[in-house]
Amino acid sequence: MHSTTFLVAAFAAAAYASPMGPSNGSQNSTNGPSYTTGLLGNPTAAPNPTPNLGVVAELLTADSTVNRFRELQAEIAAGDVSLKFDFNPAANPGVTPGMGGQVDLANRANFPILTGLGISAAGIFFQPCGLNTPHIHPRATEFLTVVTDSNIFSGFVLENGLTAEFNTTLTQFQGTVFPQGSIHFQQNLDCKPAVAIAGLNSEDPGASSIAQNFIVNLDADIVDATLGFPKQIDGSNFAQFKKNIPLSLAKGVEECLIRCHIPY
Ligand SMILES: *[C@@H]1O[C@H](CO)[C@@H](O)[C@H](O)[C@H]1NC(C)=O
Ligand SMILES: *[C@@H]1O[C@H](CO)[C@@H](O)[C@H](O)[C@H]1NC(C)=O
Ligand SMILES: *[C@@H]1O[C@H](CO)[C@@H](O)[C@H](O)[C@H]1NC(C)=O
Repeated sequence: MHSTTFLVAAFAAAAYASPMGPSNGSQNSTNGPSYTTGLLGNPTAAPNPTPNLGVVAELLTADSTVNRFRELQAEIAAGDVSLKFDFNPAANPGVTPGMGGQVDLANRANFPILTGLGISAAGIFFQPCGLNTPHIHPRATEFLTVVTDSNIFSGFVLENGLTAEFNTTLTQFQGTVFPQGSIHFQQNLDCKPAVAIAGLNSEDPGASSIAQNFIVNLDADIVDATLGFPKQIDGSNFAQFKKNIPLSLAKGVEECLIRCHIPY
């Protein structure tokens, strides 16, 4: 069954519908309970400086920490590197917001003073109901703390062997942890914007979005076989669809199953 095109379209739509996006201070109670959208953060924040090409490479090859910081001192004096990172969305024009908000990450590349320090941080700006969709950080554990007076539902799945979801709801100034490599998410439960700040124990933590990279970016035949050849998915049969997803190793791609006369 070649339902993968439909599938990819459905998930791509879901992926675009759920992550993050900006807006500017309006109330809306036309449909159901009222919600508030707002400009996320300080709209007049100046953009973080963009480091010159090659700066991080130079810092990485400094022969001592003192010499690395001497280089940083010169870069800071020249205004090319900042000692301060501004998480405000307006200060991070390079980040494309989604419908539900945005994540502004300070890593080695855009905040070179982190070079050699093994740490980074993210500001997560949620619109009402914004969902930071399930993702992993390949090189870091994350410690996330909610800053605003909000309710943020979060959870993670560790790895094969312990696949139960760990989940918790956080309110203002409460935090939780997402182990390195775990699939995790955060969902703003409120009808108003929310902000969380997260520390990560790598200066280059990386992120990989699960649905986007698996369903959208992998070879369609591989996705189809991994999902158990779904005929069609929507809200009414999503539970059935999940039941059809095979255990790994899955049977294989349809072309091979047909060629080898293996029923599926
Ligand atoms: C939000 O900002 C955009 C762009 O500046 C503007 O077109 C729109 O009218 C604004 N909406 C509200 C509700 O202020
Ligand atoms: C409020 O929401 C309704 C339905 O989603 C939409 O048609 C309307 O334009 C919104 N009004 C404002 C002021 O955003
Ligand atoms: C959240 O975790 C609890 C166990 O603490 C579990 O029973 C529940 O199913 C989880 N919720 C979801 C939505 O997976």
